[in-house]
Amino acid sequence: MSATVVPDPDPYAFASDRSEEERRLVAQSRLFEAVTEQLLREAGLRRGMHVVDLGSGAGDTTILAARLVGPTGSVLGIERSPEQAALARRRVADLGLDNVTFQEGDVAALGDLLGGHPGPVDAVMGRLILMWVPGRETVLRACAERLAPGTLVWFLEGDLAYDFATPCPPLWTEVQGWFLRTLAGLGAESRMGLKLYRSFRDAGLPGPTLESRTIMTGGPTAPVWFLANIVRALLPTMTQLGVADAVDFTNDLKFPQLLAYYRAADVFVSLSEHEGFCVPLVEAMHFGVPTVAFASTAVPETVGDASLLLPGKDPLEVAVAVQRVLSDDVLRKAMIEAGHRRVEHFSLANNRCRLLGALEPRIAAHG
Ligand SMILES: C[S@@+](CC[C@H](N)C(=O)[O-])C[C@H]1O[C@@H](n2cnc3c(N)ncnc32)[C@H](O)[C@@H]1O
Repeated sequence: MSATVVPDPDPYAFASDRSEEERRLVAQSRLFEAVTEQLLREAGLRRGMHVVDLGSGAGDTTILAARLVGPTGSVLGIERSPEQAALARRRVADLGLDNVTFQEGDVAALGDLLGGHPGPVDAVMGRLILMWVPGRETVLRACAERLAPGTLVWFLEGDLAYDFATPCPPLWTEVQGWFLRTLAGLGAESRMGLKLYRSFRDAGLPGPTLESRTIMTGGPTAPVWFLANIVRALLPTMTQLGVADAVDFTNDLKFPQLLAYYRAADVFVSLSEHEGFCVPLVEAMHFGVPTVAFASTAVPETVGDASLLLPGKDPLEVAVAVQRVLSDDVLRKAMIEAGHRRVEHFSLANNRCRLLGALEPRIAAHG
């Protein structure tokens, strides 16, 4: 069961421990540095350009861009978090870069920021930022409306739903599921990379040139710390959203375990979209577990009057139906009894009778 909850006005939730977050962003950035540099070069970021870096974080992308544009160019990093902006300023000062400035601000107001920008802008760029911004359309629309034709608009966004490991052990699948559900709960777009083309076009920008890169590696140097790093940073948010313990992916179950799950269950929910029959619903009814089911394909025919059937899969409606079954003892009892009748309807003895009943008149008619 999942619901979209925005517990904090700041959907960028990697911020509970600042110094830890700073280390995390810098380590993560090192992992992506070579790929980012290559993509920026290929996109045409070059010496002398004046660049705006959106969601500049700890300053890694800003520093990289500053190196590429050189002393005759400049980079302005826009960052909402004052702590991140302060860290980025410190790092830039340590490196002695004097073509970089940072401004605290919300990139959702990019139109205003660009409107008030004194100098030329040759490129707007951002890495892993659009996914976090609820008003990402506004950001891209500002690029379409405020930038001179020919200005480079460059974003690197991820697809965080890909398989993190091959083979993917159950623990990885489970932890990745927590991560994805946390992002969904925060309203972040975990597959922003795949949505860039559509988003650019919807905002009135020309269709972008798309490139896809993945970091594939194995053995002891594989950056498997990456997921742990993310989870550690997101743990308070995960707890707040209840994602880490709300859903348990059992993966493969042995038969006795399956029986134990049925025996322990209070309610069985099926949101399957295609069922030719749906044996698990009948199994649940056999074990006296009331069922809540999306009324797709053969499901209504299978459950008869024994299930709470739903016309859609809206999480809130599902939650309300489950709550009804759990809290209304009369309904629950009636559903369990109806479930047993339904199982009896499918019993071998009953089916034999029905089959014979259908066949006998025809056999008799043919002598
Ligand atoms: C995943 S980090 C990426 C940082 C940097 N671009 C990089 O790749 O190293 C996202 C950054 O965007 C900032 N951010 C999130 N939403 C923002 C917004 N609406 N306006 C400005 N910054 C934002 C966060 O504070 C964080 O520093």
